[in-house]
Amino acid sequence: MSNPRNPRVIVALDFAEAEQALALVDRLHPALCRVKIGKELFTAAGPQLVESIMRQGFDVFLDLKFHDIPNTVASACRAAAKLGVWMLNVHALGGRKMLLAARDAIPPGETRLIAVTLLTSLGQEDLDEIGLNGNPGETVQRLALLAHDCGLDGVVCSALEARQLRNRISDAFCLVTPGIRPADTAANEQKRVATPREAIENGSDYLVIGRPITQARDPIAVLQRLNNEIMDDRQ
Ligand code: C5P
Repeated sequence: MSNPRNPRVIVALDFAEAEQALALVDRLHPALCRVKIGKELFTAAGPQLVESIMRQGFDVFLDLKFHDIPNTVASACRAAAKLGVWMLNVHALGGRKMLLAARDAIPPGETRLIAVTLLTSLGQEDLDEIGLNGNPGETVQRLALLAHDCGLDGVVCSALEARQLRNRISDAFCLVTPGIRPADTAANEQKRVATPREAIENGSDYLVIGRPITQARDPIAVLQRLNNEIMDDRQ
């Protein structure tokens, strides 16, 4: 079954203030999920909140998507890893030198370093306008292979991209997938959604899920349902 010591669901704490995030975290359990803190919440509540959530036993994915010159990104990664977070990310579009500097700053170990490939908000017209060759699908593959080549631990990708990437990259490379909706819930504004089961079957290791859990009347019940749904035979 879905191993409680290795929960695959990462709950996106997309809140404006620490109090709201902590109120939800109080209702969750580290055996059932990990949590993701992004730019909004981190900017408002800072490292103190990260530390407080980690003290409650949760693994934290710090989703700050660093993208800057190599030296600055390396320093930012070091600072994030020093907090003791489980996972953090950078933009693959920062290029090889930046990715290698990030990897050098936090060698493989406790903190996983993953890359965002192409933001899903970018379509073909956006790529053409900023001068990126190829279509979004090809660009995602190229950037994921670059991240792999630079020794990163994984990438963020959609369930569809996960299937293509899994065919080309070993199981050790971790695929983190947002845009997940349990079969019976609203898609919100997410366009290409997959169910948890579909994403896992496509090769995703971790599922980033926000509103279906954060807006639920009983978040623990939803989490338990999700964990049951992704019970799989890869563990
Ligand atoms: O509420 P929902 O499940 O849509 O939240 C998804 C989370 O994953 C949000 O924190 C969002 O920023 C993040 N995300 C996404 N699509 C991407 C990358 C990240 O929805 N392509």
